[in-house]
Amino acid sequence: MDHKLNGKTALVTGASGGQGAAEASLFAAAGAQVILSDIADDAGEATAAAIRDTGGNAEYRHLDVADEDNWRELIAVIAKENGSLNILVNNAGVPLRGGNITNTSLADWNRLMSVNLTGAFLGIREAAPLIRDSGGGAIVNTGSIAGLTGHFATAYSASKWGIRGITKSAAMELVDWGIRVNAVHPGLVHTPLVEESVDFVQALSDQTPMERGATSEEIAKVVLFLTCDDSSYITGHDIAVDGGFTDVGGYWRVLKQVMAQPDQRI
Ligand SMILES: NC(=O)c1ccc[n+]([C@@H]2O[C@H](COP(=O)([O-])OP(=O)(O)OC[C@H]3O[C@@H](n4cnc5c(N)ncnc54)[C@H](O)[C@@H]3O)[C@@H](O)[C@H]2O)c1
Repeated sequence: MDHKLNGKTALVTGASGGQGAAEASLFAAAGAQVILSDIADDAGEATAAAIRDTGGNAEYRHLDVADEDNWRELIAVIAKENGSLNILVNNAGVPLRGGNITNTSLADWNRLMSVNLTGAFLGIREAAPLIRDSGGGAIVNTGSIAGLTGHFATAYSASKWGIRGITKSAAMELVDWGIRVNAVHPGLVHTPLVEESVDFVQALSDQTPMERGATSEEIAKVVLFLTCDDSSYITGHDIAVDGGFTDVGGYWRVLKQVMAQPDQRI
């Protein structure tokens, strides 16, 4: 492993498990000092300990991304105890399935927005000055293919479309501070977020050109790319990591269906 993040300090939200844990682990392997944060404290402590066991530099701190005071306190602690911050990954998110417009409660709408979108807003607002004062760096926001296409859960989809807007606005505003801001948009990823919904996982795998979901490590590698100097000329960008779901569109199904006919003509 190249030490592409040597000397960098990185904060990953929602890092107790799933993609956030994979990102924290990869960052540590790339030489970063990693701060894992989450509301699932026991799992977060265990994940940080597992990274340390492999020789990585990792610590866990509690952070509810929807809580403004939590953000202020954590950034102050990082400034005091770690001395710098170069990378922020706004990864924490909560799902909502079956939430079409007519049956979505205001409480569910507000919960989704507060974690998935307000969390990223607060993170950028609170962390950016410290990243600037640390010599600049990179922020990666976690969207979804639900923020690239229409989707069946209005609140989830709207929160992820919002991630695209905040990414582009922040990229514009923070470029003079030496901070790049990009978004990664995973398709199906095998994590606890989707594992309860077997039918959904099967259906989305079937509709994905690669006909499978991603591992968390496949997403983490793209996030590492967006945080290290390999992507030094990329900002404000959306990268789908989705096995071709959004870019190939429905034509791969058309092609497969037509080619399956004995006398196929395309
Ligand atoms: N798994 C997928 O198929 C998929 C697809 C597209 C996008 N995503 C997005 O990827 C991100 C990571 O999800 P994942 O798949 O690793 O799921 P996950 O459920 O494994 O991880 C999400 C983490 O966020 C934490 N979290 C929840 N609310 C929080 C809060 N208020 N403050 C801090 N942490 C909080 C959870 O405790 C958990 O550790 C999310 O933003 C999700 O929307 C996931």
